[in-house]
Amino acid sequence: MTLHSVPAAKRAIPATGVNALYDRVSKVIPSVEWPVFAPDIEAILKLKRERNAVILGHNYQTPEIFHCVSDIVGDSLALAREAARTDADVIVLAGVHFMAETAKLLNPEKTVLIPDLRAGCSLAESITGADVRLLRQRYPGVPVVTYVNTSAEVKAESDICCTSGNAKAVIESLGVDRVIMLPDEYLAKNIAAETKVQVIAWHGRCEVHERFEVDDIRRLRRAHPGVTVLAHPECSPAVAAEADFVGSTQGMTDYVSREHPARVVLITECSMSDNIAVQHPDIEFVRPCNLCPHMKRITLPKIRRALETMTHAIEIDPAIAAPARRAVERMLQVKAR
Ligand code: 13P
Ligand code: SF4
Repeated sequence: MTLHSVPAAKRAIPATGVNALYDRVSKVIPSVEWPVFAPDIEAILKLKRERNAVILGHNYQTPEIFHCVSDIVGDSLALAREAARTDADVIVLAGVHFMAETAKLLNPEKTVLIPDLRAGCSLAESITGADVRLLRQRYPGVPVVTYVNTSAEVKAESDICCTSGNAKAVIESLGVDRVIMLPDEYLAKNIAAETKVQVIAWHGRCEVHERFEVDDIRRLRRAHPGVTVLAHPECSPAVAAEADFVGSTQGMTDYVSREHPARVVLITECSMSDNIAVQHPDIEFVRPCNLCPHMKRITLPKIRRALETMTHAIEIDPAIAAPARRAVERMLQVKAR
């Protein structure tokens, strides 16, 4: 698929006020669509000032959210780190529910808003706190490393959290021979291939990344000779083995900036390519499109409504929050990247 490139003559958008932001996204948003976004963007920027709010935008958010209203963008690890250090009164999480919960764990006194409560995650749905307790009975003494893509209840049962950006460093920081790694089976297997630590996996899957198959990659390589293939570690180990690089969403972004491949394909959620392409007009992005329906529940009108009405505020039972916070904070102390 090619970029929605918009010839300058057709833009006719004066670069004043909120419209000045259009230049950031003109390569991926046709000028006819801009008037739909501009009023919400203007309102959100004003509300952020009035509420002393920041918007943390995940790499899978659509370009008008990612480039025009987010204060901080990045992968789950970067957003958690930023949530831990912000001095804003209000945090709006343009991402999914577990990310907002992580931000709330790190900021119990602040208001953390998720614009749509239904923005979930198939990995977070795949496991409960009771499942973790059963695993502990089955493997006594084996530490539990929990991917941040889980509920606070599951984090509360864990020794330490990890993200796809620091999973290997977290596991190796424990100084043990064996860990239980929850809940993503593929992430656990991909990390197991990189470390001597034995990894006991759960059977959770990301509904977006599990759809990619080895044949898709081979077809892409045939159709786009010389293409560099970057894959997220939530893909199956077979798909990861076909890729030139495997990394978190931020890892992929950094790879593109560092290596500057002429032609690249990101085996992950669709919006990533749009967001990176804006900064790299000279790189050709090949785009197989798998949408995360949960990430796509977040829209500009919902962010605007969240700031107008201060909903939906994340609340976590204090009995769960204390141990869950410990697991997240322990992760943030591990040096990675
Ligand atoms: P990252 O931590 O790589 O951003 O991944 C989060 C996620 O949900 C990927 O599907
Ligand atoms: Fe969850 Fe997969 Fe969506 Fe990421 S892409 S939020 S892991 S369902």
